[in-house]
Amino acid sequence: MTLYAVPLPVGADTELFRNAAKGCVGLGLSPDKVAFQPTGHQGFLPEPPWRGAPAKPFTTPRAFLEHMEEVACHNANDRFDLLYALIWRFARGEIGVMDRAEDITLSRTLNYARAVRRDIHKMHAFVRFREHYLEGKTLFVAWFEPLHHILHKAAPFFVDRFPSMDWLIATPLGAIGWKDGILTFGPGGTRPPDTDDGVLDIMWATYYRTIFNPARLHVDAMRREMPKRYWRNMPETKAVPELLRRAEARAGMMIGQPGDATPTFADRIAARRAEAQALEDAMTAVEARTIGALRKEADGCTRCPLYRHATQTVFGEGPSDAEIMFVGEQPGDQEDLAGKPFVGPAGQKFNAALEQAGIERTKVYVTNAVKHFKYEPRGKRRIHAKPNGGEIQACRFWLEREIALVKPSLIVALGATAAQSLAGRTVAIMKERGKPTAFGEHHGLITVHPSFLLRLPDAEDAEREFGKFVADLKLARQLLGRARAA
Ligand code: URA
Repeated sequence: MTLYAVPLPVGADTELFRNAAKGCVGLGLSPDKVAFQPTGHQGFLPEPPWRGAPAKPFTTPRAFLEHMEEVACHNANDRFDLLYALIWRFARGEIGVMDRAEDITLSRTLNYARAVRRDIHKMHAFVRFREHYLEGKTLFVAWFEPLHHILHKAAPFFVDRFPSMDWLIATPLGAIGWKDGILTFGPGGTRPPDTDDGVLDIMWATYYRTIFNPARLHVDAMRREMPKRYWRNMPETKAVPELLRRAEARAGMMIGQPGDATPTFADRIAARRAEAQALEDAMTAVEARTIGALRKEADGCTRCPLYRHATQTVFGEGPSDAEIMFVGEQPGDQEDLAGKPFVGPAGQKFNAALEQAGIERTKVYVTNAVKHFKYEPRGKRRIHAKPNGGEIQACRFWLEREIALVKPSLIVALGATAAQSLAGRTVAIMKERGKPTAFGEHHGLITVHPSFLLRLPDAEDAEREFGKFVADLKLARQLLGRARAA
């Protein structure tokens, strides 16, 4: 019989639940004696005296802690009761692992976790921003209706994608805001009235119409992937009913055609070409397909404030099918003026080392983690300033696309900034240099930045370090040979 109730804050915060659950275990309250109320206190049951309860140490598998964080996001009122039932059994040693799919409680919480992950995925895919102007600034605003309390889990994706825009995603369950590089969470709201389609809505609708292919229409799959409940917040779906009607009519016409009206080989190729062209035209607006197009796009980059004081974007250079990509930090003074990477003193050191390692610079792709020169003016001189995390993050947009287009077999990070951008974490260069690593799915290698060699005051040190740098580049050659052979 339920004797106690533990009121919890609305949402997915697990801190109070974890403490209360530990206390309840300490009090020896079996799951049938206590109810966890994730919508605040309801009914007349007293709260158990868990706060001062004797703590009984017990462990849960690490995977359970992650699982608990996901399950807590679900909107079902019994989510914390189920979690407590599992904690109770872990504490008593009745279960020890997470992979007991036949366990009824566990299989229910696994289903909850799956539903939460699906909701996060839908949010990432279906949020559509509209452009607004507020106090002279552009603000991108979206309305989305998640099923579960997923905002904290979904937010990093949007920060990663749109680091240099100010944006707000409002939902009934809360709001996420990103302004001047600061992430905030606010209360939920109600759906704003439909306004006229903004520029972004029109772009989405056009893009969607262009890539819509009635021959591949699979209504059930489409409804499954993009359930109707999301449609009203997605401008492109306004085109769907008409496209479906036309597709049905086209299908009807095709069925009614006599057998000998099968399109000829040439007609089929022409139709396929037209389809491919339409798709390509639509994609051009969204994603550059060649390094040249990407370079042009990057010319106008304003993703972070560095463009304001730099002369120009310094984009990567080298064959677009190069097997090795070298990534430096950011252009220096001379690179900023020339519009080319690694042409100044660090570039000369780099060239000398490449030559000793037997690597032809004209055969490799050379780029930087950050594409604009960051500096501090000192008199007439411009002194290099290190890019910060936000600037590195904003510029990853370009680096990722360069990598996707060049598809190098090996990526070499020159120094800490490049390594941070490629690995997505801070890297201790001296610890991690000179051994094979991975950047996502790419083979990688980390070494020092050539400007490090220029800064060494002692000639002997400089010579020794230069030798080590050359050795790292020779290893890059070997790794490439291995990648080719694999
Ligand atoms: N340092 C870099 O990291 N890149 C350049 O292009 C020049 C100097």
